Amino acid sequence: MLLPVTAGINNEGRITIGGCDTGDLKSGYGTPLYIMDIATVKMQCEKYINSFAFKDFESEIIYASKAFCSLAMCQLVKQQGLSIDVSTGGELFIAIRSGFDPGKIYFHGNNKSADEINFGIDYKVGTFIVDSFEELEAVNEIAGQKECIQKIMLRITPGIKAHTHKYIQTGAIESKFGFGIQSGIALEAVKKAADLENIKLIGVHAHIGSQIFNIEVYDSLIDVMTSFMAEASKKTGASLNHLNIGGGLGIKYMPDDRPASIEDFAELVHNALLKYTKKNDIKIEKIYLEPGRSIAGNAGTTLYEAGTIKEIPQIKNYIAIDGGMSDNIRPVLYQAKYNAFIAGRASYLGEIKDGEAVGGASPAGSTSTLANFNEKKYNIVGKHCESGDVIIEDIMLPEARKGDLLLVAATGAYCYSMSSNYNGQPKSAVVAVEDGKSWVWVDRQSYEDLYMRDRKLYE
Ligand code: LLP
Repeated sequence: MLLPVTAGINNEGRITIGGCDTGDLKSGYGTPLYIMDIATVKMQCEKYINSFAFKDFESEIIYASKAFCSLAMCQLVKQQGLSIDVSTGGELFIAIRSGFDPGKIYFHGNNKSADEINFGIDYKVGTFIVDSFEELEAVNEIAGQKECIQKIMLRITPGIKAHTHKYIQTGAIESKFGFGIQSGIALEAVKKAADLENIKLIGVHAHIGSQIFNIEVYDSLIDVMTSFMAEASKKTGASLNHLNIGGGLGIKYMPDDRPASIEDFAELVHNALLKYTKKNDIKIEKIYLEPGRSIAGNAGTTLYEAGTIKEIPQIKNYIAIDGGMSDNIRPVLYQAKYNAFIAGRASYLGEIKDGEAVGGASPAGSTSTLANFNEKKYNIVGKHCESGDVIIEDIMLPEARKGDLLLVAATGAYCYSMSSNYNGQPKSAVVAVEDGKSWVWVDRQSYEDLYMRDRKLYE
């Protein structure tokens, strides 16, 4: 699945999502527009819940809200039975305001402020994921002042490198996150946590990276973590039998991407749990997962309007869109690749089934030849004052026209949540689509919103 599972092409040759015509979405809400397909989010949540429902281990699926956080998204994952991971006071606030049961909130962050810790404890956040000795002490102290016992997990650095972009690897020894196993610091942290009286250590956590395709690293992760849990339990007397293995499952951005399915991921995790609990002689009661991208990513698409089409003969053709790096920073930041479609004239794609273009002139999308279409190679660029503001390089598309609607796939995760007002670009609206209906999840910012919090030159 590259596009949302409900995507199709209607008789007018326009792409539809959740039964809504992208042309109508453009007229109703304007562009750039983030479109979230509720059916795809629900399907992904359901796959996680069902595939990780093991007989021999309890499990909890925690949505990593950094992927896409809004009141409605929190409410949707809650309705689907997921818990939530927040990484700052801000995400925590949104989760609380969405009506999330605080007991199902997992509070991350490698540098929580005293205010954030106070806020979390006041709101009765279920579990803090503690990242440093300073935080252990601060949580213990603040919980003591409030006469409560705070449940925590310790973030462990397992010393495992996931083969993904270096900015989104987090499990290696040199990582800024967590307590390292190899250095002996993780063991110290377990000892310390076990001694602190206002803290209840319930388990350990590791997150090794994001957009992971080689899921075998989770096998190594479970080996390393269960071995550490066994050693730490023996040496400290702490009973460590809850294991949180973070998020990271990769998704399809490009036609050739072959990410593992949630089902295969679950099977690998299950087998690894059976194998390594035996090998390392430890009982695991509960496993936790924290998917973000694989819940929200393919559910989202971004609709743009093509403006200037610039052709530099024999060199490059550009399609400039009405958004860019302010609504999707990922190509600039991580050299991330995206695929796009001409949504208003999509018959060149043949059909779209299960989120994939099939049987058209260009089933594979980006680089293949569009027989019978006057195809051209384009760079899709944004409207920002940066040459690097490129959303897609070298994509083959039917000859583009000013006013064409362009739909970029797989933008549901880490696009809206990483968006900015660079160049005074108001943040785009987010609309939800389901069963032929569409409605706003997040309003488009106005120009007024851009200076609402500004003050005068002097008081
Ligand atoms: N748990 C923890 C502790 C995390 O730090 C993350 C992501 C997740 C779960 C969710 O990972 P996911 O399932 O989404 O891969 N901005 C980058 C991704 C940064 C991920 C940060 N942590 C990007 O756009 O690729």
